[in-house]
Amino acid sequence: RFTPGIECHTHEYIRTGHLDSKFGFDPDQLEQVLTHLAGCRWARVQGLHAHIGSQIFEVEPHRDLAAVLADALVLARRLGHEPSDLNVGGGLGIRYVASDDPPSIDGWVQVVAEAMVAACRERNLELPRLLCEPGRSLVAPAGVTLYTVGSRKQIPDLNTYVAVDGGMSDNPRPITYQSEYTACLADRPGAEATETVTLVGKHCESGDVLLKQLPLPATEPGDVLVVLATGAYNASMASNYNRIPKPAAVLVADGCAELVQRRERPDELLRYDVLPERLRSVG
Ligand SMILES: Cc1ncc(COP(=O)(O)O)c(C=O)c1O
Repeated sequence: RFTPGIECHTHEYIRTGHLDSKFGFDPDQLEQVLTHLAGCRWARVQGLHAHIGSQIFEVEPHRDLAAVLADALVLARRLGHEPSDLNVGGGLGIRYVASDDPPSIDGWVQVVAEAMVAACRERNLELPRLLCEPGRSLVAPAGVTLYTVGSRKQIPDLNTYVAVDGGMSDNPRPITYQSEYTACLADRPGAEATETVTLVGKHCESGDVLLKQLPLPATEPGDVLVVLATGAYNASMASNYNRIPKPAAVLVADGCAELVQRRERPDELLRYDVLPERLRSVG
């Protein structure tokens, strides 16, 4: 993997293809790396890989990536390697809020494939096996998170906070990347909004805000609120912040609901704790 030196417009924490990145070899070191590997009996360079970042809406960076990867393939071949694979990573964004405008999966694949074919033809390269690593675009829209509405704090002329029974431990993206989401009530998804609220989690952090400026119909404690498009980078990034147990996951399809991950129990949060011998008799 190398950093292709491609800038794209996404949050700096999920940008990985620019030069000042911790991921991959620097492109200026690629020749040195490949030369070194050519002298290693234990190494076989099967492919070249670059991942430019995540939640990307423009197709130009991936179009540019094709040329960068093809140049790297020329270099690798010149140095005696026979890589069969070029891997363009992932990165295709999804619509979290109405203003997000990602290309379709088909559109993205077409751009990537056509750019790669063109880049290889221009360099008289045999077409490599083209790999990609889509993550978010495949699974994020398939997931939703259900919260139960709890307390409310109304500050006249300033803000209305509505708290739910989850937050940054099941979805750390808003506090980490200022990510935005769309939400609605489970039993009245199309109901007209009557107020604008700040949806907050139950953790002991002022930054535990799931959604700002959320238009909502009147809610009561106990209402179920749905945050959409949480199928990627939510369960996999969940934590036990504030010793909050992780929620269950339920697979829903064709009118059938199946538990695929049971809710964590509070006692399980203590399962790695060890009481040193010398403290056992205390108290
Ligand atoms: C190397 C690599 N490939 C693919 C992906 C998936 O990216 P995305 O979910 O944006 O498609 C990631 C995500 O971090 C990654 O690090």
